Amino acid sequence: MKHKKVYIETLGCQMNKSDAERMYGMLEHVGYSQTENPKEADLLIINTCSIRQLSEDKAYSQIGVWGKMKKSKPDLKIIFAGCVAQQGGESILKRAPYVDLVLGTQRLYELPNLIKRIENGERVVSTEEKPFEESEIQINRVKGVNAWIPIMEGCNNFCTYCIVPYTRGRERSRKPELILAEVKKALSEGFKEITLLGQNVDSYGKDLEKGQNLSWLLRQINALNGKFRIRFVTNYPTDITEEVIDTVIELDKVCEYFHIPMQSGDDYVLKKMNRRYDYATYKKICDNIRSRIPDVTITSDFIAGFPGETEEQFQNTLKAMSELELDYSNTAAYSPREKTVAAKWTDLYIPEDVKTERLARLNEHNRECCLKSNKKYIGRELEILVENYEVRKNGNKVITGRTRNNKIVHVPFDKNITGEFVNVKITNAKTWYLNGELV
Ligand code: SAH
Ligand code: SF4
Ligand code: F3S
Repeated sequence: MKHKKVYIETLGCQMNKSDAERMYGMLEHVGYSQTENPKEADLLIINTCSIRQLSEDKAYSQIGVWGKMKKSKPDLKIIFAGCVAQQGGESILKRAPYVDLVLGTQRLYELPNLIKRIENGERVVSTEEKPFEESEIQINRVKGVNAWIPIMEGCNNFCTYCIVPYTRGRERSRKPELILAEVKKALSEGFKEITLLGQNVDSYGKDLEKGQNLSWLLRQINALNGKFRIRFVTNYPTDITEEVIDTVIELDKVCEYFHIPMQSGDDYVLKKMNRRYDYATYKKICDNIRSRIPDVTITSDFIAGFPGETEEQFQNTLKAMSELELDYSNTAAYSPREKTVAAKWTDLYIPEDVKTERLARLNEHNRECCLKSNKKYIGRELEILVENYEVRKNGNKVITGRTRNNKIVHVPFDKNITGEFVNVKITNAKTWYLNGELV
């Protein structure tokens, strides 16, 4: 049988990238091999993100290009998957008549059944809110050093700006057997860093047997043989338990790194965002982690120009960023998302130019915080896991790796030692990375 070829274009977060690896895995079982070239594909999949309007627009413009390809290649099949699909459902078939299947995030594992139906000429929408359960791990992982492994999916928090609870459904934990099997497989394939992934990793296990929580899972993975690192993202500030902090301190493989999105430094805005903490509470959590874990890196997410945000309230965000000495933050201008609560507050929308200007100031502040954080490490000796080797245009040969606390380090070295752990001395600090030399 001639192998058919599939190409997947992935937008959005690590969860989507992980879903793409699963789609490749499932499709291999039904006779599709992966291609990097959309022009030679028999099946094209767009794996969409709807966190902001811009990401959603990108999906539709890409699919338009593919639709034209179908005119000269009538057997070409097109799948519209991911977060926009879960939300848009039936309407996508109407809007994009060349799409054969709309596959919601919660129906991912139904793909092998659905592919047969579209191969027979049907047009299908599968976006039911009931998650289609996975029965065994089917994954075709992109080779590398870092393996991203989902442990839970969905979100119950309903922050007023956020679409994720609508696109990923309610929180549910993956079965520990499946996670552990997947971790073991990745390690046997040579991966050196495991990042456990979830919209709120602290919720892991709430729907499982008593005692099976994030700390328990970290202990199971830490007990596996070999030298490797373990990380986890994302934490919801007030859900981080003392037990998790203890686990990070006790377990040798778990890295000193927390990503704890704060979103705003202003109490009134936080309330309007439906975040369940105020600035003082977040600060206490941060201070506690920093006092217990030396050299810990804490990163965050912030939104500029949330509906109704005043200049003064925005400045509280800038203040928070520096007062808490956040090591790095993802930033974005508020983008109204249909269905969400805040999107209805149209009379409070902040004008585009103001949002853009606030975002620019937020980014500038972020750069200062990053540089300050990086400078702390000049002269220190740290272990890096090498992730990349590059011969630059000027002939310089450089390896790049990350420290346990997630700092990127560039080191001159003339051999590709990707996947190895080496000790380096930090010689200089830039905004986004450190320079070092081998010791
Ligand atoms: N579960 C994580 C984040 C998931 S979404 C958490 O609770 O923090 C990733 C980030 O996208 C969010 O932290 C937020 O900063 C940003 N984001 C979400 N919705 C947004 C919107 N409508 N406009 C701008 N940024 C948004
Ligand atoms: Fe979105 Fe809030 Fe859930 Fe994070 S916690 S995914 S920001 S609703
Ligand atoms: Fe991720 Fe975007 Fe969906 S950030 S969860 S792919 S909306």
